[in-house]
Amino acid sequence: MSILIDGKAHAARLREEIGRQVGRLRQHDLITPGLAVILVGEDPASQVYVRNKATQAREAGMSSFEYRLADSVPQIQLLDLIERLNCDPEVHGILVQLPLPPQVDEARVIQAICPAKDIDGFHPINVGNIATGGYGMVPCTPLGCLTLLKFQLGDLSGKRAVVLGRSNIVGKPMASLLLKEHCTVTVAHSRTRQLEEVCRQADILVAAVGRPCLVKEDWIKPGATVIDVGINRIEADGRTRLVGDVDFEGARKVAGALTPVPGGVGPMTIACLLLNTLEATCRQHD
Ligand code: GUN
Repeated sequence: MSILIDGKAHAARLREEIGRQVGRLRQHDLITPGLAVILVGEDPASQVYVRNKATQAREAGMSSFEYRLADSVPQIQLLDLIERLNCDPEVHGILVQLPLPPQVDEARVIQAICPAKDIDGFHPINVGNIATGGYGMVPCTPLGCLTLLKFQLGDLSGKRAVVLGRSNIVGKPMASLLLKEHCTVTVAHSRTRQLEEVCRQADILVAAVGRPCLVKEDWIKPGATVIDVGINRIEADGRTRLVGDVDFEGARKVAGALTPVPGGVGPMTIACLLLNTLEATCRQHD
């Protein structure tokens, strides 16, 4: 049986530490970190994520500014709002929840966010800085995964890591971060040949493809550390259930350590968003 990596507990400890640092900033420097979250449309999953982000920011002592725009919002209106937030000294971090409706050009929106306030780490300047080994805001989900991996394994140097998925939000930045930690990194995806065999090579397997229970027991090298980023809603026995990209029951027979869904990577993502907001605040007041 593998060790369960308790992301919920790690995230709670991280949020407590962030809360202490926010308290000090407010008391000694009279600065309150401010997080602005923009949600376009009514997607139920996005509404839950955005609500959780805002609630946890307030619980950590930050100011939270929420903007809900109609699904039909013209792109120019969204860009105008971002420009206002870029100039607002009370806002230190800006997050536009993705995905966006088709009339809005996602790349254009991301590029409109001031890189210093881009706490998602999606702006090309931050992506480029991370990829070239410099300082940049690190996307929250990969940062959460890396934090759990380092806690579990310590030094990652020389380990074989397979990242399953090549999204801009998780797969690609995860690969950059693991490379920076001196792993030997393979990015696998839907067109990868002999996918199972590639996964079986991994000392570290990060699954981020959005396919429920894709990774089976026999895809995993015995003793490997498995990080499951997937959050998939499935109907089972007349109920909606959350499952990851990894077949949990199978995987826990072979993996050395494994993150559950829910309670693994998800809570770490939001904690890392707060960490990025705190860091952005400190840098803006440096
Ligand atoms: N949609 C799914 N994950 C994310 C994320 O990490 N940030 C943003 N802005 N949108 C998302």
